[in-house]
Amino acid sequence: MASTRFEPAGPLRGAVTPPADKSLSHRTALFGAMCDEPLTIHNYLEAEDTQSTLGALRALGAGVDEREGELVIRGVGLRGALDVTGGRLDVGNSGTLMRLLPGWLAGQGSGTWTLDGDDSIRRRPVDRVAEPLRVLGAEVEVQPGGLPPLTIHGSELQGAEYVLPVPSAQVKSCCLIAGLLARGETTIREPYMSRDHTERLLRRARAPFERDGLTLKVRQMDELELEQFTIPGDPSAAAFVVAAALLVPKSRVTVEGACLNWTRTGFYRIIERMGAVVVGDLEPVGTVADHEPVGDLDVAHAPLEGTTVEAEEIPLAVDEIPLVALLGAFAEGETVVKGAEELRVKESNRIEGVVDGLRGIGAQIEATEDGFVVTGTGGLRGGTLDARGDHRLAMLGAVAGLASDEGVEVAGMNVAAVSYPRFEDDVRELLAA
Ligand code: S3P
Repeated sequence: MASTRFEPAGPLRGAVTPPADKSLSHRTALFGAMCDEPLTIHNYLEAEDTQSTLGALRALGAGVDEREGELVIRGVGLRGALDVTGGRLDVGNSGTLMRLLPGWLAGQGSGTWTLDGDDSIRRRPVDRVAEPLRVLGAEVEVQPGGLPPLTIHGSELQGAEYVLPVPSAQVKSCCLIAGLLARGETTIREPYMSRDHTERLLRRARAPFERDGLTLKVRQMDELELEQFTIPGDPSAAAFVVAAALLVPKSRVTVEGACLNWTRTGFYRIIERMGAVVVGDLEPVGTVADHEPVGDLDVAHAPLEGTTVEAEEIPLAVDEIPLVALLGAFAEGETVVKGAEELRVKESNRIEGVVDGLRGIGAQIEATEDGFVVTGTGGLRGGTLDARGDHRLAMLGAVAGLASDEGVEVAGMNVAAVSYPRFEDDVRELLAA
């Protein structure tokens, strides 16, 4: 396993363009495959996770032409047109692919597919999608404990009502996609607002979809209409660079071309509460739209104060919560994260990984049932942090190293390529500027 050392360094200065958004890359490729006409995607994320999606869509008969800076998906239409009427699909490390794709396959009139992936995927629950799909009439099998591989038999679906037990944009999206294929109307209720990219895409593709607060309704339809889509930068990937700028004295970084959809920028609101000044056009909370807002963010080193993150904020910052723990270690006072039990079923158990990882390099942090409590000590000693095969823990360790007293050795740094292959290059360029 490759290990990489991040020495205390800085300041970070200059501009960075984050990688293309991962959530939007998965979704637009999948929507492209469900369209009748070709969809051109600009700035598709070139990373391991999103390559898994292209591989699965090819296996399902969609045309995937990768050209310089452009991806053309030649779709097979919403239903019944899949060239290959069954088989094994490899989702790699991608939870999003594992959870969204069954929504489409469930509504095909025939065919049997088995979705499987790497060791990390095999530990992540899929009963959360099997259950609502069964409510819609699908035939789905999962392994004991609700785990992959997941086998799905295409059938006729019937619209129904489903209340999501967990706030998950992946599960919500799976239900919405299945709802396009199910007879009549499908109603979904989510416990808290989560990222709404699928909803925006549905509006844009002229699907019969509406939202009233936390209730979503979608009706059966024949044809999605999407011609082209440009993927903005990933605000979750950018958050790692932003956290480094906040922690390393004299830093000032501009993030260019990030997706500023309010359902993705919860982390930026949390750091503002901790004392950061975030200059940029964050989309106002509560905006309903059919496009993805894009803009720049400017952030500089700042003294930080502890904060409390409540359950309803978690889905809006879910992938950035490990960074809140790191910032908390440098902040004055206590930082408390509540309602974040979902972190236990991410690419790794992120409550354990963050608490053990940061404690090992000098943080005062305790795990709780649904999150953690960090007591700020103004800095971190350094040491070794194990990425546990999780891209976001790898980048967390790297940022911690830059801001630490003695540096951090990240065991398994190569896994950052799952979402941000240029992470180390971007950081080194900002350090050299
Ligand atoms: C994602 C939703 C979140 C997030 C993941 C991507 C998506 O997962 O953690 O990285 O693209 O819908 P959950 O839906 O499991 O919360």
